[in-house]
Amino acid sequence: MKYNIAVIPGDGIGPEVTAQAKKALMAVANVYNHSFSFKEALMGACAIDATGAPLPDETLSLCKKSDAILFGAIGHPKYDNDPKAKVRPEQGLLKLRKDLGLFCNVRPIKAYEQLIGNSPLKKEIISGTDIVIYRELTGGIYFGIKELSDDKTIAFDGCSYSVEEIERIAHLAFKEAQNRRKKLTLVDKANVLETSRLWRKTITAMANQYPDVQLDFLFVDNAAMQLILNPKQFDVILTENLFGDILSDEASVIGGSIGLLASASVGKKTALFEPIHGSYPQAAGKNCANPLAAILSAALLLQHLGLHKEANAITNAVEKSLELEISTEDLNPERAFTTSKVGDFIADYIENQQDSNMNF
Ligand code: IPM
Ligand code: MN
Repeated sequence: MKYNIAVIPGDGIGPEVTAQAKKALMAVANVYNHSFSFKEALMGACAIDATGAPLPDETLSLCKKSDAILFGAIGHPKYDNDPKAKVRPEQGLLKLRKDLGLFCNVRPIKAYEQLIGNSPLKKEIISGTDIVIYRELTGGIYFGIKELSDDKTIAFDGCSYSVEEIERIAHLAFKEAQNRRKKLTLVDKANVLETSRLWRKTITAMANQYPDVQLDFLFVDNAAMQLILNPKQFDVILTENLFGDILSDEASVIGGSIGLLASASVGKKTALFEPIHGSYPQAAGKNCANPLAAILSAALLLQHLGLHKEANAITNAVEKSLELEISTEDLNPERAFTTSKVGDFIADYIENQQDSNMNF
């Protein structure tokens, strides 16, 4: 089959890690006789530099025509501490999520046995952890009314959710729980926030459609603690936009590196696949960033296209690279491999399976 993939490398380490994900997809194409047509587009700080806009129209229309989008990272330090900046790289990603209707962000978190010693958390706490976070992605405080008083001493960010916005992601999260260990935890702040009370009421009313799923609720402050105290208690976590953003970075500690976490953003039509890490500007251009989150995002992309054995070929290659310690400095400070070497190993392993570790 032929698939059109839009590639948005973005800023910082984005281009380097996305190049490795492309390599893995090309290896898959060779082995399984698919054809991927990759078209690149700008978004983020690089797009502001080139066009003045963080999400140029051509990028949006390319994405709309694609079967899937592979995205790297965006952000540049020159915007982070500049309160006067009118356009920001992040606006590109937020607009893309909104315009494409990508309301459901899926973030799998898993403790790889090969990396159990890399986490600062104790082995017995994290071993066997397998969680997936369903983060609402196009609503809440990220997209509410934003205001700054004329004298610039009071700022306002509004947070709203509708029943419809809650239900559409909740159905996906309940179904995911049915296909896994049948446990769904809604994380909210219903003791304080009106929006959280609406989430609880809506999810509670839906529960009878999924009688085989055990539903429970946790306040976000407690959830943050439980995630590192006893992560194995979780199966599927469902939460709103901001809480999901924060909890997924926290949860990356379980896997030993944020450089491992991939995500899928799905919704109305096309879907976007990206590592959850940022643009890591300190490492940009140094060929040292971990490409596994981007490569695993490519595996999620294949799954989304229904190419399951192809996706498994990527995840098996990633597991092999971890087993052989063919990994970047975040995981392997003593004998670090470069970003592109890790990418080469993964592509090579996909194409040649067991022979591939010969050259490394
Ligand atoms: C993420 C990122 C984004 C977010 C930023 C870059 C806007 O942190 O995908 O988690 O907050 O959603
Ligand atoms: Mn984030």
